[in-house]
This record gives sequence, C-alpha cells and structure tokens, in this order.
Amino acid sequence: MVDIILGLQWGDEGKGKIADFLTPQYDIVARFQGGPNAGHSLEFEGKKFVLNTIPSGIFRKGILNIIGNGVVVDPIRLQAEIERIKDECPDYSERLLVSLKAHLILPTHRILDAASEAAKGEAKIGSTLRGIGPTYRDKTGRNGIRIGDTLEADFMSRYRETVQMHLRQIESLGYTGFDLQSEEEAFFTALEQLQKLKLVNSEYLINEAIANGKKVLAEGAQGSMLDVEFGSYPFVTSSTTLAGGVCSGLGVAPKHIRKVYGIFKAYSTRVGGGPFPTELNDETGDRIRKTGNEFGATTGRPRRTGWLDMVALKYTCMLNGVDELIMMKSDVLCGFEEVKAAVAYNIHGHETHQVPANLCSAPVEPQYRSFEGFGNHLDHLGGFDALPESFRNYIHFIETELQTPIRVISLGPERDKTIVRPK
Ligand code: GDP
Ligand code: IMO
Ligand code: MG
Repeated sequence: MVDIILGLQWGDEGKGKIADFLTPQYDIVARFQGGPNAGHSLEFEGKKFVLNTIPSGIFRKGILNIIGNGVVVDPIRLQAEIERIKDECPDYSERLLVSLKAHLILPTHRILDAASEAAKGEAKIGSTLRGIGPTYRDKTGRNGIRIGDTLEADFMSRYRETVQMHLRQIESLGYTGFDLQSEEEAFFTALEQLQKLKLVNSEYLINEAIANGKKVLAEGAQGSMLDVEFGSYPFVTSSTTLAGGVCSGLGVAPKHIRKVYGIFKAYSTRVGGGPFPTELNDETGDRIRKTGNEFGATTGRPRRTGWLDMVALKYTCMLNGVDELIMMKSDVLCGFEEVKAAVAYNIHGHETHQVPANLCSAPVEPQYRSFEGFGNHLDHLGGFDALPESFRNYIHFIETELQTPIRVISLGPERDKTIVRPK
C-alpha cells in the first residue's frame, strides 16, 4: 500500500521534517513530482540538511528511496545533494534509486526558465529558475529527454537537436548573457555520476514491493495551491502536486493508495508571485517571517507571510481527500496576543467559502475569526493535553472546520519536537 504526505498550502509546510519523522513506518519513500525547485529541510542530532530531489527517507537505515518517473532531475543539483549527504549516508548508492523515465533538466531548460521570466517582466511567476517549467513543457510536448535515453546510442544527437531548439526559443525571447559551454561541462560531468546510480523501472519495483506487502510513503513537493490544475494559475508550478499525481508520478493504481496526510503551517506563507488573500504586509507579517525563519530553504528568498486561510485549506483537503492533518510551526505564533484565521472570502460584497476560479483578479477580502494567543511558549514534552487551552481551541476549530483530525503537531524544526496524538 501507499500513503501520501503532501503540502496543503503554497509549499514549505515542513514536508521534509515530517516525511523523515514518518519514514520508520515504511519500507520505501518516493518522490512523485517536482524537482530541485523543492527544498525540504530536516534536522536531527544537531545536524541540518536540505534535500531537493532526494526523498526525505534517505537518513533512515534500510529504507529505499526512489526518485520516481514524475520527477524532473538536474544531474548537477543531484550531485551536489549527494555530496551533502554522503558522509551521513555512506550506503546511499544502495538505497537511492532513480526512474529511467524521469525527465532530465538540461542547462538550456534553466536558461529558458530565466529567459521566460525576464520576458514576463512584472508579471513573472517568481519561479525558482531551476528549469522546472521548460522541462515539463518539453515532456508534455514530447520533446523531453529521459534519464534512460542518455544510455541510448542516439543520445548526443538528440541532445544537440534539443539544445538547438532551445537556443532558437531563447533567442526569440531576446535573452542573452549566458555561458552555455561552462554549464554543459558541469552537466556532462554530473550526468556521468548520475548514470552510476541505480537506474530502474521504478513502476515495476514499486508494484512488486506493494504486492509483497511492503509500505510506500509518497512524498509530495511544493503545495496544493501551486498545483498546475487547481492552484492559483498561472502562478503555479508545472506538475500535479495533488494526491492524484502519485498514480501517474510513480505508476501505482488508485486502489493501492491507503492514507493521505495533509500538512500545513499554523499560518500561511508563499514565495514568488501570485495571489495570497491573507497576506500580511505589516509588522505582524515581518514578525512571523523572522520568528519562523521564513526564507527559502534553497533560494534564500524571503517568504511572504499571512494568517491561516481556511477557505484555501478546505479546498485543498477536498482535492486531496485528506485523511489526517499534520500541523506545523505553531511555536512561531507564540507571543501574539491574538491569532487570526480567514473563514470566508468576501468578493464584491458576497460572502463565499469557495476559492474562486479567478483568484488572480478577484478582489478577495478575507473574513477573519480571531483567537486568543497561545502564550509565550509551546512545549512538546508534556504532550497535547499539557498545551494551553487557547491553543487546543485553535486545533479543535481547525478540526471541526475541516472535518479531519490533526494527528501530528510539530513545535520545532528538530525531529523530536513533534507530538503524535493517539487515535
Ligand atoms: P518543506 O519544503 O515542506 O519540506 O519545508 P521547508 O523545509 O522548505 O520549510 C520549513 C521550515 O520550517 C524549515 O526551515 C524547517 O526546519 C522548519 N520547521 C519545520 N517544522 C517546524 C516547526 O514545527 N517549528 C519551527 N519553528 N520550524 C519548523
Ligand atoms: P517545496 O517542496 C515553495 C514556487 C515558486 C514559484 C512557483 C513556480 O520546498 O515546498 P517553479 O520553479 O516550480 O517553476 O516555480 O512555485 N515554488 C515553491 N514554493 N516551496 C516549493 O517547494 C516550491 N517550488 C516551487 O516560488 O512561485
Ligand atoms: Mg521547501
């Protein structure tokens, strides 16, 4: 069977921490979409790691980690990641498997990403510039190069043709000032290393594991509000970040999916452009950013901050069929006298509980409900019942609104600062 953990907001919910926390219950951890636009942070035993493409189960002994077919892989980024983890995981090459069908991010995909963003000017997406959009576009446009294709005799001629096509596109966007030659040198060096990893037909491997009673954790990247179908389009990423993406991104049938864990922060953040109804462009927002260390795990960009958005959260719980919730970073809200959550949107004088299709242009005024602050300190040591009543009220409110239990509460970045509530 397969369980899924995925983000319910705009990414950076804390998926890395919780995927690592849950890993001991599984045999395999697999990424099913996204690529090095992701930055998943983990902290344990005084050590900190940020993973981009490698699943967050890599630090647990004996666990297989699969980069699935739905992921887009940049060999240069992957190699850098391996360098960061190899001392901690000396047996990584035995436990890290990569799908032959995963698409490659080429140097020109990254350049194209920068060129399209530059051409958009003010309307730019705020992409991570990791080449994600152009790579998925080539995949669906049937021009992509998969990792397995690099082992074929015609790889270099296909690579050259693709690069020529990209250079024409880059030229038409009027973009200059890149050094393809040095990028290519780094790319081919890293590609050689990638080819030494275990490259597999991961759909067979995963299905055989499921048939043998093994348990798989599918680890999402980005967040549901960045999903290409249902997110705040066009300010989204280019993959299916929702639970449905697991089936195509790993090659598992819907009947094998058991549980969906939805993860969210006690407030909201967003990095890059696009609508953000509960955004706080004030001192409160600054304080959340500072206390929550809300800066991109890989890009270092400051994240936009705001109150919890229950309208968006209800939407993404619906889209994913979330069974259990995981709430992160409540500790960041300590010290506030008042905490707020948006319970409805007012658009042109009409109250709605739905995320509008035209979220980018609709004049959304969030309607807030106010909660008493949680005090100055939230500690995981005493368990849930020892937490302040005001905080427990906030939890109960969210559970009631979403009709879904909050099973795990995280109160710090470290692995052990986590409360699991009994069923
Ligand atoms: P991901 O992309 O969903 O894995 O999340 P990121 O790693 O990009 O961002 C989450 C950030 O919050 C990281 O810096 C984590 O170390 C940190 N973090 C995770 N859980 C908690 C928590 O409960 N409290 C606090 N204060 N920080 C947390
Ligand atoms: P994790 O997995 C937060 C955002 C970018 C931009 C938009 C499109 O760490 O939660 P892209 O590079 O995908 O074309 O950028 O999506 N974005 C993320 N925001 N967390 C992420 O990943 C993100 N991955 C992409 O900032 O707005
Ligand atoms: Mg992140």
